[in-house]
Amino acid sequence: MKVVTTIAEMRKIRASLKPPLGFVPTMGYLHQGHLSLVKKARAENPSLVVSIFVNPTQFGPREDFKQYPHDTEHDLALLEKADIVFMPTADEIYPPAFSSWVGVGKVSERLEGACRPGHFRGVATVVAELFNIVQPTRAYFGQKDAQQAVVIKKIVADLNMNLEVVVLPTVREPDGLAMSSRNSYLNHKQRQAAVVLYQALCLAQKLWSQGEKDAQIIRQQMTNLIQKEPLAKIDYASVADPQTLEELDRVEAGALVSLAVKIGKVRLIDNVVLE
Ligand code: PAJ
Repeated sequence: MKVVTTIAEMRKIRASLKPPLGFVPTMGYLHQGHLSLVKKARAENPSLVVSIFVNPTQFGPREDFKQYPHDTEHDLALLEKADIVFMPTADEIYPPAFSSWVGVGKVSERLEGACRPGHFRGVATVVAELFNIVQPTRAYFGQKDAQQAVVIKKIVADLNMNLEVVVLPTVREPDGLAMSSRNSYLNHKQRQAAVVLYQALCLAQKLWSQGEKDAQIIRQQMTNLIQKEPLAKIDYASVADPQTLEELDRVEAGALVSLAVKIGKVRLIDNVVLE
């Protein structure tokens, strides 16, 4: 495994990597969720690039960019099996004269986009830039960030980017909490309370399995359950079309049920696709 920090060196090495090339973009502080993507990308491609870059432009002014957790030594130890770990500096990705942005339209304005204005503009821009630098055959993303996966599929399709987007299932802790770098912010009591997200998603799945077709009832039941947890504050409880992310009246198979909930100051997101 080789650590590369400049775009020039990344491009040079890219030319010598055996195709197809798998790519896993991350912001580091790696956990088993990230590693499930790395493992799959490793298995499906003779060459593998993983990037670690905490992208400043996808954080709002009052968000946790400055506190975002990092442990590069630990990350690099976990990435032994990658060919290249690309760790650019912010100046490489955003030089002083940088002024071009990727806007994604409606799918980026709902849910996370509504709560975190500008977030997906930052994500779409950095991912487009990373794709142009790394030029992967396949790029791997987690269903944990369902809307992000939709946004990235959309830019790849709309802008005719020549790669395949692979989306893999959410990896969870034994009690159901979706793994996330931000879980490290939770104290003991908050960690216990955080399981309420998964419980609410399981309730939605159960109501649907029992024949509930009214999306508003599912949203309301999830809300009621979460409100019983004193440490939890809901940003949204959504039952939406999995492609357009528009809220549904009638629930259909494949609907995306997603939640954003603050546990104390820690904002967590999670989702399930109804089967
Ligand atoms: P980050 O939060 O580090 O996540 C990197 C990738 O890991 C994303 O595709 C995310 O969906 C996936 N992931 C995170 N937790 C997961 C879990 N529990 N199970 C499965 N996959 C999981 O997402 C980002 O970084 C950034 O927005 C990025 C795409 C790198 C652009 O800056």
